[in-house]
Amino acid sequence: MGNRKALIAGNWKMHTGLVDGCKLAVDVEKQCSQFSDREVLLAPPFTTISEIAHLLKDSSVILASQNVCWQEQGAFTGEISPMMVRDAGAAAAIVGHSERRQIFGESDEMVNKRLRGGLASGLLMILCIGETLEEREGGQTYSVLERQLKKGLADISPEDMGQVVIAYEPVWAIGTGKTASKEQAQEAHLFIRGVVEQLYEKKVAEQTRILYGGSVKPSNVDELMAQPDIDGALVGGAALDAESFGRIINFN
Ligand code: PGA
Repeated sequence: MGNRKALIAGNWKMHTGLVDGCKLAVDVEKQCSQFSDREVLLAPPFTTISEIAHLLKDSSVILASQNVCWQEQGAFTGEISPMMVRDAGAAAAIVGHSERRQIFGESDEMVNKRLRGGLASGLLMILCIGETLEEREGGQTYSVLERQLKKGLADISPEDMGQVVIAYEPVWAIGTGKTASKEQAQEAHLFIRGVVEQLYEKKVAEQTRILYGGSVKPSNVDELMAQPDIDGALVGGAALDAESFGRIINFN
């Protein structure tokens, strides 16, 4: 893992109301020791961020939104701007999640705009990429990842890459209980790092954190985190249970 600090991120998706979300956040926070080698991030629904930020104000847990608009304000019904995300108490945002791409039709170009908007506002940005089952079976995994990276990172400077985290989430492994094997994940991560090197330079590639996402759970986190190019996890289902997520945070 070199000198990259591990990042364990919980993506709550469209789960939790105010009361259970606050409880979950506090319970998760209790499982975070004074880590020096890892960071913990939570992406709760927009509507709960500010209350959770208040509750966790003295903690090192980073809060993130699950998406963000590219404009700071304006006529964008249904969108939340980087300024609003920061205002609510979050310091990071996820963009390009496969559910955004697949269910809501977000293109690589739109994901890139969101990424640039968030960076311009000083947010730590997690860019999600990943192939579908069809694409994997059709031998297109690498061409899909390369396209998503090239388009997703268009016009992002090498300096800005310091604030970008990439999450590799094979769509066929999300919420299915089917994890990519540690070898499959490592191979994809190595490929992704190679593309980042191609787009920037070796130093940027070596510093960029690449998270794995897709059915990460207590039983597989250790072997995934032991891979040289896996720098963290983006966790969905298992992040909704404080005990499971606590075990994942405390991976060996
Ligand atoms: P999962 O979701 O852990 O439930 O597979 C991961 C994600 O979608 O970020």
